Amino acid sequence: MNVIAVINQKGGVGKTTTAINLSAQFAKEGKRTLAIDLDPQANLTVVLSGGQFEFDTTISHVFESAKKHPLRTAIIPAQAGGDNLPNLSLCPTDIRLSRVIEQSLTKVHRERILLKQLETLKNEYDVVVLDCPPNLSLTSVNAMMAADLFLIPVDGGSFSLNGLADLLDALEEVKETDDVNFVVFRNEYAKANKLINNFLNEQLDGLDDKVLSTTIRRTEAIGQASVSSEPLLTYKPGSTALNDYKALAKEVIARLNV
Ligand SMILES: Nc1ncnc2c1ncn2[C@@H]1O[C@H](COP(=O)(O)OP(=O)(O)OP(=O)(O)O)[C@@H](O)[C@H]1O
Ligand SMILES: [Mg+2]
Repeated sequence: MNVIAVINQKGGVGKTTTAINLSAQFAKEGKRTLAIDLDPQANLTVVLSGGQFEFDTTISHVFESAKKHPLRTAIIPAQAGGDNLPNLSLCPTDIRLSRVIEQSLTKVHRERILLKQLETLKNEYDVVVLDCPPNLSLTSVNAMMAADLFLIPVDGGSFSLNGLADLLDALEEVKETDDVNFVVFRNEYAKANKLINNFLNEQLDGLDDKVLSTTIRRTEAIGQASVSSEPLLTYKPGSTALNDYKALAKEVIARLNV
């Protein structure tokens, strides 16, 4: 089992969109995939549950008491357009997550709750995708402890790379190594934005092979699929934007030690 965290404490760079569409792509390729929503905003939850908002058990319950609510009990088949998505499972979140996490500050090993729970499922999934919140809270630290690979989207915004150095510092600290397995890729890429593209290329230059050659282009279809609460794969199966996610999935898999 490989665990991939889609992470960036900057908001709105495409973490959730990436987590949704990458999970759907892995599942389509036959990989037993589990998407876990670690953001109380619950955007991934809504999309991969086919529009549901209420669940008996969520990741909040798991963080509250993993003994009473093991991760396994919070997992449901993913859905879109009324059908189950084969090979794709979902662990939903809810709005209580931030509060629950704060209350777990007194728990020993509180940053290893997710890691330990995932160990119990290691033979059941090939890939786990974690959608992280836009902050470096204890939830994100749990994701850092659990993940083998960090997938960092950056967008075309002029301050997009602000905070990247802080994120990499945090990853090195949590992983206790200066050789963290991370990759950066460009989301909402628009070829015509020469000024921004040149600027970002310069900024990313020092990261060498940590920058993926795949970019996810800015397309209307991706935005529309989000608004319609569906993965692109079911919303618009013929969309050329799916090729970007296909390429991303391939490059990401190559970075895992499988
Ligand atoms: N490649 C793309 N093309 C078009 N729209 C995109 C693309 N990627 C993301 N978006 C849109 O940008 C918005 C923000 O994306 P998303 O919610 O995935 O970001 P996020 O990093 O998860 O945000 P947050 O930090 O709030 O969790 C969404 O409306 C989404 O539909
Ligand atoms: Mg998000």
